[in-house]
This record gives sequence, structure tokens and C-alpha cells, in this order.
Amino acid sequence: MSTPRTPLIAGNWKMNGRLTMARELASAIAKGAPAGVEVLVCPPFPYLAPVAVTLQGSAVHLGAQDLAASEDGAFTGEVSGEMLGDLQCGYVLVGHSERRTVYGESDDVVVAKFQRAQAAGLVPVLCVGETQAEREAGETEAVVGRQLDAVVKAAGIQALEQAVVAYEPVWAIGTGLTASPAQAQAVHHFIRARLAAIDAKIATGIRILYGGSVKADNAASLLAESDIDGALIGGASLDADSFLAICQAA
Ligand code: G3P
Repeated sequence: MSTPRTPLIAGNWKMNGRLTMARELASAIAKGAPAGVEVLVCPPFPYLAPVAVTLQGSAVHLGAQDLAASEDGAFTGEVSGEMLGDLQCGYVLVGHSERRTVYGESDDVVVAKFQRAQAAGLVPVLCVGETQAEREAGETEAVVGRQLDAVVKAAGIQALEQAVVAYEPVWAIGTGLTASPAQAQAVHHFIRARLAAIDAKIATGIRILYGGSVKADNAASLLAESDIDGALIGGASLDADSFLAICQAA
């Protein structure tokens, strides 16, 4: 009997908020986070330290939204995985679609960031997903498979034991267009099966989150799917009541 996967609900605050809002949001989440589900918040870099202080004593985990693909050095403006660890981060998003599309991060850069995150003792949340055009062209599995394979080939399947995967269809991010539970489950199953073809134990144990317009009113139906182990929340993570309602649905 495999160990059941503890649900993980992660909030990606993106580039939003101010110091007071960050502290108040983190405090409300720390107070309201339910038992039985792992809760993670990913504030913008400047608010990691004050949010870490606010979360002290709670079970809520802290994560970052990105990290440098290189170790410390002459990389102006960058933040290393070790610096994130100094700020009590346990997780870091890697390859979010906005990093891939807005900032042109290639699979190679995503792989480098994935490996740097683990080298710094962080758990990478590897984000994968297709665009509307790729879905309409029937390329969803080819795209997601390519993004997943790039990391597995470079880091090795064992590296996935200390990682999380987040399937975020680009067409559902910030659009209000949520993938149906069946659509999301199909891609989650594809991801798990692709990993199982290499290592069944790791495929069974890895958590695969869904992200893309998850809200309090659609979370339960998505989280009820067998291969959906949690959610990566954008807009709804900026409101404590909405975010906690999604945590309660897990
Ligand atoms: O990383 C999560 C994010 O991309 C999803 O955003 O606003 O559609 O929940 P949203």
C-alpha cells in the first residue's frame, strides 16, 4: 500500500502587495491554515523575510517564486538558492510559465534552476504547461513531456523524489478559464505515467499540483481527481479567505 500523498496548496503571490499587506495576509493564513494539508506561500522576494517572521510557529511553509540559475557571483540583481534558504524558504517555483514566456526561460535554464534549487537544499516546484495554441494543435502531451523530460534527463529520476510538479495550462492562468477536472486529470495522469515508466515508486510518491484559475468554487472538484495532489494558486492566494477556502477543500 503506497503512502497517501499529503495535499499541498501553494499560493503564488506573483508581483503583488506591499509590506503591510504581506504581513497581514501571511498572518491570516498562519492562523487559519487547516490540518491535514500542507500550505505554502510564495511572496515576492522583498517580503520573504518579514513573512518568514510572521509565519514563525505556524505550519505554513515559505517559498520563493524564482532563483538564479547560477551560484553566488557577479550576477547583478539575482538571488541565489542559498540566500533563499537563509530566509527560511523550503520551496522555490521553477519554470513558471511567466518566467518561460515573459522572460524567455528555456528548458535548459529551467533545468539549471531546478538543479541549483536542490543544490541549495530547496524543494523545486517544477511548473509545466501548454499554451492555447499548443492545446488546440493537439500538442499538450508533447509540450508537457518535453518540459518534464528535460529535467529528468539532466537531473535523473531520483531528483524527482525531492520535487513537486505543477501542471499549469498557460491558457488557464489568470484568465478565469479553468481546466475542467477531466482535462486536468488527463494531463496529471500523463505526467505520473511518464515518470512511472522510469520509476514507479517516485511516480507514486510525487505530488502533482494543478494551477490555473483555481478558486474556492472550483477547487473541490479539481482536488477530487486521483492524480491532482494540490493546487498552485495565483489570484485567489491574495485573499486569505479565498485561499483558506481552497485549503479546506483539499
Ligand atoms: O502559479 C499560479 C498561477 O500561475 C495561477 O494563477 O491567477 O490563474 O490562479 P491564477
